[in-house]
Amino acid sequence: MGDAANGKVLFVRMCSMCHTANQGASHRVGPNLHGIAGKKCGTTPGFNYTEQMKKKGITWDEETLNEYLQFPRQFIPGTRMVFNGIRKEQDRKDIIAYLFTLK
Ligand code: HEC
Repeated sequence: MGDAANGKVLFVRMCSMCHTANQGASHRVGPNLHGIAGKKCGTTPGFNYTEQMKKKGITWDEETLNEYLQFPRQFIPGTRMVFNGIRKEQDRKDIIAYLFTLK
């Protein structure tokens, strides 16, 4: 299981330039991620997703988030998320644990 407190620190460092986390916060370059766990990908209102993200048709759970955050452009070719991915498994686990607290 991941450490959500450490995940928050990592989120601020690696994700917050493009993503907000608080409920109702505005989108940045990427969509607001409040409530992302259990949500269908590409469905947050008011954000202009790529066709690839909308067509992927997955639900964000521990497994899909883990794959996406490891190799974003391999898991969803053509995604506009310009991020190389997180190589350390424990870092991914911690960030995912944090994302699960955003509800
Ligand atoms: C350089 C900006 C940028 C960074 C850094 C970034 N993202 Fe993203 N992210 C995006 C964009 C843009 C999209 C929408 C992609 C698309 O439509 O193809 C996105 C999409 C996502 C989605 C899918 C959202 C949905 O509603 O389906 C998740 C989950 C996500 N990012 C998580 C993260 C996490 C966690 C981090 C940090 C480890 C991160 N991102 C870092 C720009 C970024």
